[in-house]
Amino acid sequence: MVRWWDQIETVASQNVYLSKLAQVSSRSRTNPKLAILIYDSVLEKKFAAEIATFPHRFAVHSGEKLKSIESFAAFCERLNKASLDLPARQMTVVAMGGGSVGDFAGFFASVYKRGVRLVHVPSTWLAAIDSAHGGKTALNVAGVKNQIGTFYPADTVCLVKPLLDSSGDDRVVDAMGELAKIALIAGGAWVHRLETSRLEGRALLWKFLKPAVDSKLRIVQKDPNELKGLRQVLNLGHTMGHVIEALSGSSHGSAVAQGTFFALEYSRSTGRLSAAAFDRAMALMGHLGLAPAPRAFASKKIREALLADKKRSSVGRVTFIFLKGIGRTERVEVSIDALVLEARRQGWAR
Ligand SMILES: NC(=O)c1ccc[n+]([C@@H]2O[C@H](COP(=O)([O-])OP(=O)(O)OC[C@H]3O[C@@H](n4cnc5c(N)ncnc54)[C@H](O)[C@@H]3O)[C@@H](O)[C@H]2O)c1
Repeated sequence: MVRWWDQIETVASQNVYLSKLAQVSSRSRTNPKLAILIYDSVLEKKFAAEIATFPHRFAVHSGEKLKSIESFAAFCERLNKASLDLPARQMTVVAMGGGSVGDFAGFFASVYKRGVRLVHVPSTWLAAIDSAHGGKTALNVAGVKNQIGTFYPADTVCLVKPLLDSSGDDRVVDAMGELAKIALIAGGAWVHRLETSRLEGRALLWKFLKPAVDSKLRIVQKDPNELKGLRQVLNLGHTMGHVIEALSGSSHGSAVAQGTFFALEYSRSTGRLSAAAFDRAMALMGHLGLAPAPRAFASKKIREALLADKKRSSVGRVTFIFLKGIGRTERVEVSIDALVLEARRQGWAR
């Protein structure tokens, strides 16, 4: 039996870098007539011609509400009403949108007719650099993020430069946090090039998309279904990031960037990260245009958000990812009390 993680190298090499959205069907070997296109409604006007090439197309509104069970059920009903008659083993779900659309459509593809072929066409830089790769799909339950999901990697991920370029400046900033995260976790020659690159914004993201994605996939391959804990290092910055996202309503990307600042300072203050390595990590974050911006939430709220997080390892404890150096991480079970204390020390809690 071929397991999907044996195919990650293939999946990585099936990242196709395209200069036109119109190439998606041919380069991903997708017959649009046998596909269900699930796309972010914000793309409707700008990419009307490309979207219209898919006869079975469904616009959705992006965001965390889309990733709810209610909206999933409503989508299934919408599909039933459309009475599509597509052969399950030949059909493809094409997900065109940011991370929320990808998580939703990926989950749908993984369970519809017991699993159909999936192609991701990320339309945000964050999705292109991170969420479209590695096979995690997700729905939220009762407002708690990513409580239901599957491991279901896309057959092909189409990285389309004009589509990504069409997203706004906020989306560029969102992706910088995830780029910094993978650079800090993975290290290596490409990170030196990133630290000294004179490129900025979209040009920088496009240039470093490939090494960033390859670095993520190398980690995923060691622990595709997160059974050994090795894949958890990708959660650097996410423990506090998810808390900040939940309590401030800020975007996933900017919350992860702030969560990464929290993790760097926590790593430094506990003696895991040397002053020199801390300075280098902070310089990298600054080079990508990121700056710490702590705002104090009620300690009680932080505690509640940490308790709801799925990274909780046992009662009252979470698995926290510390940085020990560029390219070196450590997984440690930390009590929620200790995290709240650290949040107070850093100005994130009152
Ligand atoms: N599965 C994973 O491994 C993984 C990893 C990281 C994040 N995520 C998930 O991804 C989501 C965050 O991703 P995101 O920031 O891409 O979210 P998103 O899908 O909510 O998109 C952010 C915003 O950008 C808009 N947008 C998308 N493409 C656009 C375009 N080309 N032009 C203009 N506007 C555009 C959307 O309408 C939305 O308003 C979260 O739900 C997070 O949990 C999943």
